[in-house]
Amino acid sequence: MFKERLLTPGPTTIPQQVLQAMEIPMLHHRSEVFKKHLLKAAEGMRWILGWDSDPIFLACSGTGAMEASLLNTCKPGDTIITVNGGAFGARWAKIADRLGLTAHEIVVEWGTPVSEEQVRAAVAQHPHARAFCIQHSETSTTVLHPVEQALSAVKSLAPQMITIVDGISACATAPVPGNPGVLDIFIAGSQKALMLPPGLSVVALSQLAWKAVEATPRRSLYFDFALERKALASGETSWTPASTLIVGLNAAIEMFRAEGLDAMYARHQKLSRMSHTALRALGCTLLASDAPCPSVTGFFPPSGIDADDLRTEVRKSYGIRLAGGQGTFTGKIVRIGHMGFVDSFDVLAGITAIGKVIERMGGSANTTAALSTILPEM
Ligand SMILES: Cc1ncc(COP(=O)(O)O)c(C=O)c1O
Repeated sequence: MFKERLLTPGPTTIPQQVLQAMEIPMLHHRSEVFKKHLLKAAEGMRWILGWDSDPIFLACSGTGAMEASLLNTCKPGDTIITVNGGAFGARWAKIADRLGLTAHEIVVEWGTPVSEEQVRAAVAQHPHARAFCIQHSETSTTVLHPVEQALSAVKSLAPQMITIVDGISACATAPVPGNPGVLDIFIAGSQKALMLPPGLSVVALSQLAWKAVEATPRRSLYFDFALERKALASGETSWTPASTLIVGLNAAIEMFRAEGLDAMYARHQKLSRMSHTALRALGCTLLASDAPCPSVTGFFPPSGIDADDLRTEVRKSYGIRLAGGQGTFTGKIVRIGHMGFVDSFDVLAGITAIGKVIERMGGSANTTAALSTILPEM
């Protein structure tokens, strides 16, 4: 018997407190009780984001919220600028294509962050683009883009451009990268550091973004942000919400409040540091060593060790699920998630398993030595 551990960058482990909060008789989503849950969740998300206005809640995974953000602010024929530095960055252009938008991609080498110069050059070249889209953490390459600098660059050259930040795997692991003065749309997803099952997205909009929504022809009924804002004003959502997840979100936010946002961000930094130090000591090469994100660490195993075999063996022998690479990194890297309900002992377990399997597969790793490098952090 072993304990199944999800050290994946989503879905993540759900704490008992959150599971228990969701284990209640089904609430009707037009009831007074649910209204209270919804408004409390909106207030809790405002606290996490540090924004004054309520975000809206969508019953969809993160991709739905990315698509909805473009649907509500851009019309066919518009151009947008996107940062493509990984599988999720590449998704913007795919969505744009379906929506009749032209995406000008800033292509960034996978594993590296976008630079302010690249952003400036793209905005100077396409100053009338309707939107600028970027990931905060690019989960596929485990990079944290310098979003605050990027957004300042965008706004200094084109203040009317709507900036859209996919914070799906960064929210609750790092401070929100900007306020509604520079950041117009921020997207969070449930199955990451928010410690919930998949199926709920949260989208916060600035005043400029709301003006863009009003000025954009409405093309989707399900994803009509204006309808959602109106519904939320009376404590409802337009359609049947992911109500159980919203109840769970309030329990998760209670845990965040007890820990405190700064402590939560510091914990993620520490888990990230521990993973880096130990993986390097095991002879692995970090993928995003220049700008690693605090939620997940990607690494190449020591030479001679197959990344997918390593993951499979870690799962079979120790019950720990790690993630593989995406796109060009398929079969080449392993990603260890450390976001949400994760503590030092989880990282210790993951590193121990990775080290033992590398040793068993013939690598020269010394697991005991690698662990001793991170014990002082505990
Ligand atoms: C950065 C990022 N963006 C978007 C998504 C959305 O993907 P999905 O629609 O599968 O939740 C994910 C999920 O892994 C992500 O990590």
